[in-house]
Amino acid sequence: MRILGIETSCDETAAAVVEDGYKLLSNAVATSLDLHAAYGGVVPEIAARSHIESVTPVIDQALKDADCTWDDIDAIAVTYGAGLGGSLLIGVMAARTLAIAKNKPLYACNHVEGHVYANFLTTTALPGYVPPKQQPVFPVLALIVSGGHSQLVYFRDHFDYTLLGRTNDDAIGEAFDKVAKLVGLPYPGGPSIAKAAQAGNPTAYQLPKAKLPGKYDFSFSGPKTAVLRLAQEIIGEDFTFPSKDLPRRLSEAQKADIAASFQRVAIETVVDKAVMAFEEYKPASVVIAGGVASSQELRKQLSERIPIPIEYTDPKLCTDNGAMIATLGCFKMKLDQSTADPYTLSPNPNLSM
Ligand code: KG4
Ligand code: ZN
Repeated sequence: MRILGIETSCDETAAAVVEDGYKLLSNAVATSLDLHAAYGGVVPEIAARSHIESVTPVIDQALKDADCTWDDIDAIAVTYGAGLGGSLLIGVMAARTLAIAKNKPLYACNHVEGHVYANFLTTTALPGYVPPKQQPVFPVLALIVSGGHSQLVYFRDHFDYTLLGRTNDDAIGEAFDKVAKLVGLPYPGGPSIAKAAQAGNPTAYQLPKAKLPGKYDFSFSGPKTAVLRLAQEIIGEDFTFPSKDLPRRLSEAQKADIAASFQRVAIETVVDKAVMAFEEYKPASVVIAGGVASSQELRKQLSERIPIPIEYTDPKLCTDNGAMIATLGCFKMKLDQSTADPYTLSPNPNLSM
């Protein structure tokens, strides 16, 4: 079984072919990241326009890299939510059109669920990929940490899961992006904070961890504001000092200490909850998913605190990609999940798990 996955929920136009839910045959991605960097975050209109230009070439590339023709493809899987409305629309319309024209079943996929399925890819002949050695075993505890989502989900089996907790405000990746902007580090914030943090002291500053009524819920807006107040204090200004002028007044050493301290606390926040959920639910496997799952600090803290071995997937499969959607599509087809109507499927920007 070979599935073509299409993903356009944010700024990556991505398509991939996956075989039988474990074998990655291709993974084509065109990103408009450079176009957004100047603005310090994704500009929805620019992202949607880039998808229009890239979606057909990226799908062609995915088929070519997989050495497939349309005859080799059994179904199409596409992200229909959550994400940016204009961005989702392009992928959904492309998938609908192809499903009709090539007469293929269409599977509508939840982006966040898709991130988890990147961990099911264990084999590839593509150069430069280091996938996990084996697939996760149910029950699975999934920590989903990206630019748009921070969720802790308990999967009893495929398509049988409970959302244990989520962020009450900003996603962790979004908080990295905003803190990076605040101290003058480039977008995307996760990797640039990680880089700056290497030269910093993670205990230089004590930033607060939010306390929330939901046992497994997170909050990142408080710690982000705490960074703003801290930076103002470091340079001897009060809360009226404009944040856009902060980077010029902070030294490189101060930026590195802020980056290291914030990274430690933000990662600790999600790891604390993952450890609590592990103790309560005793899953057979723990997986991490989403762009922030590339974080070495997250991998280090989790491996130190979760008492079972954790397999991590390749960073290229943590950020948005079509392979995770194709993999989810494989399991939908294999387990007789319902198909979508190619004449009516519409994006759902607010889709939840
Ligand atoms: O999953 P993703 O590509 O897009 C969403 O669905 O949101 O995640 C993007 C996020 C960005 O906020 C970025 O700062 C973060 O993932 N990110 C990282 C790393 N690489 C990307 N955060 C921490 N460490 C990284 N190495
Ligand atoms: Zn994502």
